[in-house]
Amino acid sequence: MSGVRFPEGLRLEHLQRHHPRKSFHCGEEAVEDWLSHKALQHQDKHLSTTKVLLDEENAIVGYYTLATGQVDFGDLPSQESKRLPHRALPVAVLAWLGVCIQRQGQGLGRLLLAQSLRDCFEAGKTFAFVAVILDCLHDRAKSFYRQYDFEELPGQPYRLFLSTKRLQAMMEES
Ligand SMILES: CC(C)(COP(=O)(O)OP(=O)(O)OC[C@H]1O[C@@H](n2cnc3c(N)ncnc32)[C@H](O)[C@@H]1OP(=O)(O)O)[C@@H](O)C(=O)NCCC(=O)NCCS
Repeated sequence: MSGVRFPEGLRLEHLQRHHPRKSFHCGEEAVEDWLSHKALQHQDKHLSTTKVLLDEENAIVGYYTLATGQVDFGDLPSQESKRLPHRALPVAVLAWLGVCIQRQGQGLGRLLLAQSLRDCFEAGKTFAFVAVILDCLHDRAKSFYRQYDFEELPGQPYRLFLSTKRLQAMMEES
C-alpha cells in the first residue's frame, strides 16, 4: 500500500460540527447513521476520532473512524499470541469506513483505508497495540478488507485483524 495522496480537489479533515454529515450517502444505513448521529458525539467524548474526505464544495465524499479497544489473548491466532501475556491486549480499531455512492469504485475506499492504517501506524509509535481490528458488516465488506491482508480472527468470521508487525511491514514497504 503506497503513501496516501488523494486526488486533486479532495482533502482530509478531522470531523467538525459544520461538516454536512447528514448529506452523506454510501448505501449502507449503519455507516450513514454513524456519521450523521454519533461520530461527532463520540469524538467530543474522546471515544473515537473521525476524519472526513471533503470535495471542493465541502461535501463529504468519504470518512473513517478510529478508536482503541481490547481483545482477549485467546481471541488471537496462536501464531500471533504465542509471545504475548495471557490477558486482554490493546488494539487499534477501524470502527467505520465509507465512501459516498457517487464516488465508489474510484479508489477512494482504498486510499481512506491506507490513510487510516497510516494513522494507526503513527499512533502506534506512541501508544502500543498488537493489531488493528475491524468488524465487517457483511461479506462484501469482508472481501474488500481481505484484499489488504486483513485476516479472520479464529471463530469470528466477521472480525478481521492486521497484526502490528504486518502493519509496520506494510508502512515500510510504502
Ligand atoms: C466498501 C467501500 C468503502 C469501498 O470503497 P470504494 O471507494 O468503492 O472502493 P475502491 O474503489 O477503493 O476499491 C478498492 C478495491 O476494492 C474492491 N471493492 C470495492 N468495493 C468492494 C466491495 N463492496 N466488496 C468487495 N470488493 C470491493 C474494488 O474492486 C477494488 O479492487 P481493485 O483495486 O482490485 O479494482 C464502499 O463501497 C462503501 O462505502 N460501501 C458502503 C459502506 C461499507 O460497506 N463500508 C464498509 C463496512 S464499515
